[in-house]
Amino acid sequence: MIHIRVPATSANLGAGFDALGLALTLYNEIEMEEDDRVRILTDTPNIPCGETNLVYQSAKRLYDLCGKRLTGLFIRQKDAIPMTRGLGSSSACIIAGLTGANLLLGEAFTLDDLVDLSAQIEGHPDNTAPALLGGIVTSVFDGKKVHWVRQFIYSHLHFVAIIPDFPMSTQAAREALPQTIAYRDAVHNLSRAALFSASLLSGKFENLRTAVDDRLHQPYRLPQIPYGEDVIACAYRHGAYASYLSGAGPTLMAIVSEDTSGAFEHGMRGELDVRGLNAWRIIRLAVDNTGAVWESRG
Ligand code: HSE
Repeated sequence: MIHIRVPATSANLGAGFDALGLALTLYNEIEMEEDDRVRILTDTPNIPCGETNLVYQSAKRLYDLCGKRLTGLFIRQKDAIPMTRGLGSSSACIIAGLTGANLLLGEAFTLDDLVDLSAQIEGHPDNTAPALLGGIVTSVFDGKKVHWVRQFIYSHLHFVAIIPDFPMSTQAAREALPQTIAYRDAVHNLSRAALFSASLLSGKFENLRTAVDDRLHQPYRLPQIPYGEDVIACAYRHGAYASYLSGAGPTLMAIVSEDTSGAFEHGMRGELDVRGLNAWRIIRLAVDNTGAVWESRG
């Protein structure tokens, strides 16, 4: 039986649309072995249990590329990453399928192949690459290949995920974006995306608020999230270095000092509760520098 663990991810990181993402300490655990049919076991509601299951489809893609027939797979999914919330749940399924199948196929594909294939399946690399590699990943996807750099983060920061009780599909959130943007907005974003990585990695956290100020996607998506702008304003009042829309949303992420993150979470819980948002969850996470891990047991 193959055991796989894949981290959640937060993509875009403000202004780094489709380019920046990092892995977080929240995990999906998957077991997988070859079978004579497709059998999926999961406690998570709304997960397809047949051939449309994303872990299965991603695994099958690798078998097809190898020219090897797949009769079926037994897959057991334990999904801690909430679905359709902007925390990389679909990327985690893709990475689980690819890494599990690669082990079953005798590691026929390299790590670079898996980075490329996962981005081809997802359509963009900013969740798939950090889910596989860990740390913060800067990537350019040319439609076929991902050109990437992974950097480890050892700063004492927490990423506090404020998770609404409703989903947001990435496809719908991408359709909300304009076809063209102004030249000045492109310049605004590229300088900030560059500032984000450099500031995070060098410890200049006071820059992060400026660095996450996005003009490519947040202005179109945030107004669709009830209380979205309000929650970000609260996060700053409670001392966050930065707060931004995680991936396509609806999760709002706050970057907070490890020393004050307990008080921050407590304060934000109060802010949500007075607004009647009792069903919104808050999870305090750190950066995962390991990425996906997979092994054969028994
Ligand atoms: N970069 C992607 C987007 C991430 O914002 O649409 C989706 O999770």
